[in-house]
Amino acid sequence: MSAANKNASTEAAALSPFRPGNDDLYRRWRDAKLNTYPESAEQLVVEIADANNPGAAELSRISQICTKTNMAIYATAAGDREDRNIARTIGARLGLRHLDPNMLADEDGITSLTVVEGKSGRGYIPYSSHRLLWHTDGYYNLPEHKIRAMLLHCVRPAAEGGENMLLDPEIAYILMREADPAHVEALMQPDAMTIPANTETGVETREARSGPVFSIDTATGDLHMRYTARTRSIEWKQDDATRAAVAFLEELLESQSPYIFRNRLSAGQGLICNNVLHNRTAFADNASAPRLVYRARYYERIAETEWKRLTDGDNQL
Ligand SMILES: [Fe+2]
Repeated sequence: MSAANKNASTEAAALSPFRPGNDDLYRRWRDAKLNTYPESAEQLVVEIADANNPGAAELSRISQICTKTNMAIYATAAGDREDRNIARTIGARLGLRHLDPNMLADEDGITSLTVVEGKSGRGYIPYSSHRLLWHTDGYYNLPEHKIRAMLLHCVRPAAEGGENMLLDPEIAYILMREADPAHVEALMQPDAMTIPANTETGVETREARSGPVFSIDTATGDLHMRYTARTRSIEWKQDDATRAAVAFLEELLESQSPYIFRNRLSAGQGLICNNVLHNRTAFADNASAPRLVYRARYYERIAETEWKRLTDGDNQL
């Protein structure tokens, strides 16, 4: 990185509304953010006429919605076509090109989420039909492998259940900062959250990892969040501020907040997001057509969704 770039990066982080103490900028951004904020998942839907060749207007509408809410739902007519290129193409056309090759992804970096006995038996919940608690994807990744965006493309929904609840991390941030700025400061501590080593079958496949819940991207000043509501595989910093912040967040996620959206993807639909908080209800499969969802995790954020767009331009949705 050149000196000029480095200075620009440092400046971007310093001028971020997410930095504690930047109160005027924060308030300006918050007001722009909350202006006409959607009230349900239906407002996030964008129709894509040709699943394999999304149009410029369709893509820019997705970016516009994601600038406001960090998530959009696309609806194609592909139905239950098993075409991984739909997810790949829509992601790539929105600037998402670097896939996180997690341990259990298929060879092309896109993971097929479906009930697989062998995998779920080893405790990999995403391959089972049990409910998933609130989390952001890749919360256990190294800082250089932050998951900034994520895409779920539904080929076949479950016979019953498999619904997601969704919450924009920037909304969680606002609600916490409004309640007590000390909450967000506590969750920005570099040792707020520790993921213990993964010692499946007695072999350590991943070292213990500490990191913040909220961090600010040095290049853009955008907010990143890593979180899991799991209690078994997580150690929170044992100080009063962190305990209070985590309790606030847990309460928010269990609340009836109007900012929490519910959505159940149908065949041919997908969720594209800047790694928002989400959970999933348990589901029951139709044995002859089990639930199948393709998941792609990316290191980039969705193109043209920087926080500045809300304060600089038209922030009506
Ligand atoms: Fe997830």
